[in-house]
Amino acid sequence: MSRFGVAVLASGTGTNLQAILDQLHGQEEGVAVVGVASDKPGAEALERARGAQVPAATFPASEHPDREARDAAMADWLEGAGADLIVLAGYMQLLSPEFVGRFRNRIINVHPALLPSFAGIDAVGQAIEHGVRVTGVTVHFVDEGVDSGPIILQRAVPVRPGRDRDELEDAIHRTEHALLPEAVRMIAAGRVSVDSANGRVVTIRQQRT
Ligand code: GRF
Repeated sequence: MSRFGVAVLASGTGTNLQAILDQLHGQEEGVAVVGVASDKPGAEALERARGAQVPAATFPASEHPDREARDAAMADWLEGAGADLIVLAGYMQLLSPEFVGRFRNRIINVHPALLPSFAGIDAVGQAIEHGVRVTGVTVHFVDEGVDSGPIILQRAVPVRPGRDRDELEDAIHRTEHALLPEAVRMIAAGRVSVDSANGRVVTIRQQRT
C-alpha cells in the first residue's frame, strides 16, 4: 500500500494532532504523519511530534520578513516532508492566499462549531453567548477566507441548559478527536472530492466492502 503523507500545523496543545498520531499514524490505512509545523516555538504539539519521532519545525513570524515569506518557507518544508494533506489542528494564523493556492483542496481545518455558524475565534464562547441548544464540530477544506471552505464532515454536540463552558469544551474536544481522524482516513482513501459543478459541495463516496 502506498503511503499517504499527512502534515499537521498546530499553534497550541495539539490534542487533535495526538488523536491523529494515535488513531492513524503508521496504521493499516497507509497514513503517516510526515511533519508537524508550528508558528509557536513552545507549542506542546511540537513535543508530541518529537514523542512520535515525527519531524517538527517552527516558523515564527519574527524570523521572516512577512507572512507570505513565512508561508512560502513553511510550504517548501511541508512539500519536502512529503505532505499529501495538510491538517490545521489549532493553527492560529491565517494562511496566505499563495499557500492556500499551492495546496488547493489539500488543506483541512477542524473548527469547534457547526459552520457557517460561529466562524472565527472563540467559537465555543460565541455559541454560549448566542444561547444555541446545539453546536458541534466541522471539518472543512481551507480556502482564502476565515473558516469558509467546503464542508467535509460535521457532528452535532448538544448544549444542555446550564452546561458550563468547560464541560461543553470537553464534549467538543472529544468529538473533534473522532471526527478529524475520520476525515483524514476518508481523504487518504481517496473517497472525498469537491464537486466540480459546485465548489462548495463535497462528495464522499461510500467505503468499498
Ligand atoms: C480545537 O478546538 C480546534 O477546533 C481549534 O483549536 C483547538 C485546538 O486544540 N481550531 P488542540 O491544540 O488540538 O488541543
